[in-house]
Parts: sequence; structure tokens; C-alpha cells
Amino acid sequence: MSKKIVMLGGDGVGPEVMDVAYDVLKNMELGFEILKPPCGEMALSKYGTALPDETIKLCKEADAVLFGAGEKVSTPILVFLRWEMDNYVNIRPVKYYPGASTPLKDAEGIDFVILRENSEGLYPWGREGDIARLAEKWPDWRDGLLGKGFKDYGTGKFAIRIVTESGTDRMMKFACTYTKKRKESGHLGKLTCMTKSNVLPESDGLFQGIAETEIKRYPELSYEHFYIDDMCRRLLRYPKDMDVIVTSNMFGDILSDEASELVGGLGIAPSACIGGETPYFEPVHGSAPKYANRGVINPTAMILSAKMMFDHFGMEDEAKALEKAVSEVYREGKYLTQDQGGRATTKEFGDAVIRKLG
Ligand code: IPM
Ligand code: MG
Repeated sequence: MSKKIVMLGGDGVGPEVMDVAYDVLKNMELGFEILKPPCGEMALSKYGTALPDETIKLCKEADAVLFGAGEKVSTPILVFLRWEMDNYVNIRPVKYYPGASTPLKDAEGIDFVILRENSEGLYPWGREGDIARLAEKWPDWRDGLLGKGFKDYGTGKFAIRIVTESGTDRMMKFACTYTKKRKESGHLGKLTCMTKSNVLPESDGLFQGIAETEIKRYPELSYEHFYIDDMCRRLLRYPKDMDVIVTSNMFGDILSDEASELVGGLGIAPSACIGGETPYFEPVHGSAPKYANRGVINPTAMILSAKMMFDHFGMEDEAKALEKAVSEVYREGKYLTQDQGGRATTKEFGDAVIRKLG
């Protein structure tokens, strides 16, 4: 299958994990065209921007983008990949590979997915400001409970959380079809909606309501709803009961970091951002500057993000082969990185995966 892939290493540990992904893809001899245009801190010093126009153009023309991680200067990369390209679904699998370092007594069988609405909620940047501005622009507004106006709050800041009907609707349509597909491949077929609708009955009430309308069209699926506080606890206690969790942007951000620890931590957690112009795939972890250029970072999250790209392309055999190679390296435990209690370098782990691919 001929595909054009753009690799954006980004900053911090991003380029290192991307080097491993590059070696893995090259080794699989897929006939992909792989481009590595400038981006991030390196591009900033040379072109005066973390995201040069030429890089944007290549991303738009590509079949997929692989992104490593970005520091603050790379915020424009994230804004472009998520919002300008409108990749509104963020898929964050949480799956245990025996051999990975888990704090649980028995993590075998943990295999669920967090679907994070990726376009609205408290994101993107820019909907914050001084309460005084709100008080001035909206003098007659009163909150529903105490009847306070903005000026009664005194000096401070506000943030606006947006939940739209159309944004939630497209998310829930995706969530239901995704859960159905998982059921067809042997999973529970359960959608768990997570909100804080007890405190946010309007915004999260809308989110939950649309989930409940959409799921009715799928009598073959089961459904439940939990508040996020309850969910944080359930995730630790009953992780094997989870199948597909759908939630809003920031809750998904928070819960996916927590969930990653069940199965080995952020070094293992991949993600896919899809639904928009060009899909992109990135580890859940950030740029982790303190681990950069030391050869210690775990490239699993990046490798498994490439596996998610194969899934997205419908390249089932390649996805399975790559996942199997990764899981064998964990099962053997000889080439694990520091975060997993091993001593292998980033490259040694990657090479071990490549050897397993044969
Ligand atoms: C993530 C990250 C980002 C987010 C940051 C870097 C803005 O934490 O992808 O999970 O909050 O979405
Ligand atoms: Mg995050």
C-alpha cells in the first residue's frame, strides 16, 4: 500500500522516539514515502517558526502524520494538527502487555480505550481572561445558584468550557460505531460515558444526553455513565470491566494519564487523532525534556502509535505484526527501558522490536 507519511519529531524526547519509529517503518518495507520536514525548536532557530509553511503543506498532502512531542514553542504544531485539521477524535488505548511494569497485582487482560473529544471543552488555548472583562461585557449576567454577577467575584480569571451539539454529536456517532466494531472483534461492546453532569447539568448534561440518544440506536451495545470522580476510582479497582470510555477533552486528558499507569505508564501509551483532514498519531506523553538526548526514553508509545496508523489505514496484518513484536519484547523482558525496570536504551528497545519483526 503506497502511503505518504510525514514525521514530525518535535522537541525534547520527540525526535528520539521518532528515530525508532522511522527504523521500524523502514524495516517493515512497506513502500511508504516518509518525509521529515523541519519543525519544533530546530525549525524555530532556522526559519523563525516551529511550523514552516512547507511543513504545513506536506502534512496536508500526507496520508498521515506521526508526531513525537512538542515543547512550548511547538504549541502551533499541536494547534495545527488538532484544531486546524479538525482531528476531533482522540483514541487512547490502555492495554496491558505482560512484562510491562504495572503497580497492579494482576493486570493481565486490561484492554480498554479512552475516546477523548479532541476539539472543544476547555480547549484550545485562548478562552480565558480577566473576570473584570466579563463583568464589563456582560453586566446583567447572574449565576443560577447564588445570583452573583461577575463583578461580585472581584479580581480574577475565567475560563470558558464549550460543549456544542454538533461537536458532541459527531463524537458520539464515532464512539458508538467504534464500540460496535470492538464488539465484533470480541470485546465487551460497552460504552461508558464519563462527565460531571451533576455539577455541570447544562454543558455535561448535553454531552451525556447526546450519548444516551445515540446509544439507543445500538441495542446490541451496553451503556453506563459515571461521574469523573467515581470513574477515577473505578479505573483502579475494576479496570477489566472497561471497554470504551467516551469523555470530554480535559477529562480525557487527565484520565488517560492515570489509566496509562495501570499498564506500564506513559512510556507505553499511544494515541490517534482522527476525523479531520490528515489523521495524526502521537504518544500520550509529552516532550519530557529532562530525559531528552540521554537514550533512556521508552519508544513503545511512539511505535504503538505507528501501529494505530496501520489500523487506521486498514493494514490489519501490519498492525498485528507490530503489536506482536512489541508484546514479545515485553514478555521476554531482556530489552526493556528504565521506566520498565530494564536497562536497554531507546535504540536497543527499538532494535529488539525490529528483530522480532523478522
Ligand atoms: C496531551 C497533552 C496536551 C493536552 C498538552 C501538551 C497541551 O497533555 O496530548 O495529552 O492537554 O491535550
Ligand atoms: Mg495529556
